[in-house]
Amino acid sequence: MAATQWTASSKSREASAVSEFAVRVLNWYESHGRKDLPWQRDANAYRVWVSEIMLQQTQVQTVIPYFENFMRRFPNVADLASAEQDEVLSCWSGLGYYARARNLHKAARKICSDHNAGFPESIDEVMALPGIGRSTAGAILSLSFGQRHAILDGNVKRVLARHDAIAGWPGNSKVQSALWESAERNTPELRVADYTQAIMDLGATLCTRSKPSCTACPVSKDCVAYEQGTIRHFPGRKPKATKPLRATTMLLASMDGKVYLERRPEAGIWGGLWSLPELGDRSLQDWCDRELGAAADETEPWAVLRHSFSHFDLDIQPIVVRMNSGPGKVCDADERIWHKLDDAPPGGLAAPVKKLIEQLKKSEDVTHC
Ligand code: ADE
Repeated sequence: MAATQWTASSKSREASAVSEFAVRVLNWYESHGRKDLPWQRDANAYRVWVSEIMLQQTQVQTVIPYFENFMRRFPNVADLASAEQDEVLSCWSGLGYYARARNLHKAARKICSDHNAGFPESIDEVMALPGIGRSTAGAILSLSFGQRHAILDGNVKRVLARHDAIAGWPGNSKVQSALWESAERNTPELRVADYTQAIMDLGATLCTRSKPSCTACPVSKDCVAYEQGTIRHFPGRKPKATKPLRATTMLLASMDGKVYLERRPEAGIWGGLWSLPELGDRSLQDWCDRELGAAADETEPWAVLRHSFSHFDLDIQPIVVRMNSGPGKVCDADERIWHKLDDAPPGGLAAPVKKLIEQLKKSEDVTHC
């Protein structure tokens, strides 16, 4: 392809700014873009489609031998459609994300049945094929037919998020809309196939996730994140899921230097560990009557203790229940015990329970001084 240096036409200030971006990306592509990848040779919509699907989660160098082998075995869409799924999967073996291969196979059958084995040329029809979203459809149509469509794969998101300083996680719908708006605005009317390849190459080779080569980048001049020194903040990371918060009340029933412990059921959190009894939805008085056979002489709520599990946080409200005389009920030693605070724990204790027992021991020591 002849090296064409482009300059920005300036219909309006905005149009000129937009075309400047594309012009600089296209000029960079002339000397640095990838122009001899296997799917760029003898390019047609079928080859471009297969390559784009393979490249969705996989690097170019890994894809190349798979692509060449796939094309030898299934040179056109009819060959792919008439193959058994097992054979398609075996050609995919090692590439991973096998839903891609199953969808490719299903889509090939749909192209044969609904489009007479010709790859559809409208974006809506392409997006209606299994496994093809808006960006992949745009890439196929621009690369193989030169149609003007924006693309927004992971690499392009990174370039645009940094260039326009679009904050936030791209999975968020507002952030995604802002990125699509930028992608649409920056896609030129002409040389769309080159631009599509160029912006993907720029993202993959210069505007990398870590250690981007900003000094070599053709659009660093007006890259907002570069100017601000905030490249590493773009694109924003997925926010950590907020965990649900549960609450419970744990009782530190204390009598004569001992604390009342229960063994937890095998199933559920802290299964089989020794723990402080939980009040549940009973009243404190009812609990004391039923479990201890005596009323509390003194109760004292302590500060709430938060414990984090992988899937939820637990706010524990501890209440100290002091008994001056022995309880009316005898403990079942297997499941419930009066544990001497000076003794080693009877078995495993969950971390917050251990902490509360230690706190009780300290407070009892102080009380007895
Ligand atoms: N990643 C996705 N599509 C690509 C393409 N056509 N060339 C290089 N990398 C890509």
